[in-house]
Amino acid sequence: MRKFHTLVICIFICALVGGLDADGFKDLNYNMENWNPGTGKPVTTSLNRGRMREDYIHPTTHESQWKYDVTRGPATRPVGSTANPLFEEVLQRSFEQAKPVFHFNKISPENCTSVATDNCGILTGKAFSDNCAPTNPLFTYCQAGAGDFEAKYFLQRIGRLNASRGVILTLSGERGVTKEMFQPVADILVVLQFVKFHQMSVAIFSAAAIRLPILRVLQFYNCTGIVLQRGDFLPFPSLRMVQFLKSSTIASIEDNAFEPLMYLRHITFEHGFDTSSNLSPELKSHLSLLHCSREYKWLRDWLQLRPYLIAPKNAGAVFNLGGFQNMKREKGSIFIPVDCATPRLIADNIDGPFSSLMEM
Ligand SMILES: *[C@@H]1O[C@H](CO)[C@@H](O)[C@H](O)[C@H]1NC(C)=O
Ligand SMILES: *[C@@H]1O[C@H](CO)[C@@H](O)[C@H](O)[C@H]1NC(C)=O
Ligand SMILES: *[C@@H]1O[C@H](CO)[C@@H](O)[C@H](O)[C@H]1NC(C)=O
Repeated sequence: MRKFHTLVICIFICALVGGLDADGFKDLNYNMENWNPGTGKPVTTSLNRGRMREDYIHPTTHESQWKYDVTRGPATRPVGSTANPLFEEVLQRSFEQAKPVFHFNKISPENCTSVATDNCGILTGKAFSDNCAPTNPLFTYCQAGAGDFEAKYFLQRIGRLNASRGVILTLSGERGVTKEMFQPVADILVVLQFVKFHQMSVAIFSAAAIRLPILRVLQFYNCTGIVLQRGDFLPFPSLRMVQFLKSSTIASIEDNAFEPLMYLRHITFEHGFDTSSNLSPELKSHLSLLHCSREYKWLRDWLQLRPYLIAPKNAGAVFNLGGFQNMKREKGSIFIPVDCATPRLIADNIDGPFSSLMEM
């Protein structure tokens, strides 16, 4: 059984904000801002006792931290660290949910590189897909230059690899989405990342009748004005994490938008903002809306009943599938504590609750 020693790659996004104690993560912190968009390929990769070194350059425009880990044996039932009954229900449901089986089929290094198109490809570096080595999941991306046709064509090629392992897909730049585009990877797509989409309406997925049944993580990087309506999460029934990262701002969330997510364990609301200088108008509007407005009292009440959603997480505690798992997520990288009584909005106490209007 190859279940043993499956290589698990943790996903952890830049927890080093807001005066957080970063020492423990120093060797995991990379500057991903200087990638060469011309090549779309990692420039240098190397593993250092199972950890990537700082000289790695990632082809997406966000900071990420990747770590190798080795897991053994079958999944054990997660033990709730809190007595929260809603969290206990989520854990129980997750435990009972059938996990897709991945065979990690062999892919030749030639086939691994030849699926690339002009603007899409697999990160073949050692710290990522490692030439599609039989223990690794697939890190795939389409840069902004890839149109809808190219993205669809690329995902068809990924599907033809018959990889039977987890896939992460990073889509940069704004684009349309269609059912045909995602269909070839729908049964292997574990993490979906959007980079630099603006005024993004998440309704585009349900409108296109897309269904990603095993997707565990949905991430927005540097996306502004995200609009979430009721029903928008129906295409992603197995989501464990929703993350608004790298200065992404929300324009609106319709009451009960998160309700269909039966397995949801984590939401990152604000991350990657510089709160020491003047706040951008988008951030101000996002913070005052979600944390302070009367209109979003439902969201604060909802979070108050589910404090586990915005609490720190250990590696693997949120999801572990197809070769990916979440990495440790610390307080200070999940939301910005807001004091609604001050004009600057930022609370003095960085360990404070989500909003001064609630007690946590
Ligand atoms: C590479 O891909 C081709 C076409 O999809 C397939 O016929 C062949 O078996 C693959 N080779 C390996 C070693 O995976
Ligand atoms: C794809 O992989 C499965 C095992 O995961 C295998 O049974 C099947 O024959 C493969 N299909 C093709 C077309 O290679
Ligand atoms: C987000 O993208 C804009 C350009 O679209 C850029 O100016 C800004 O620096 C980016 N922010 C972050 C945190 O990456």
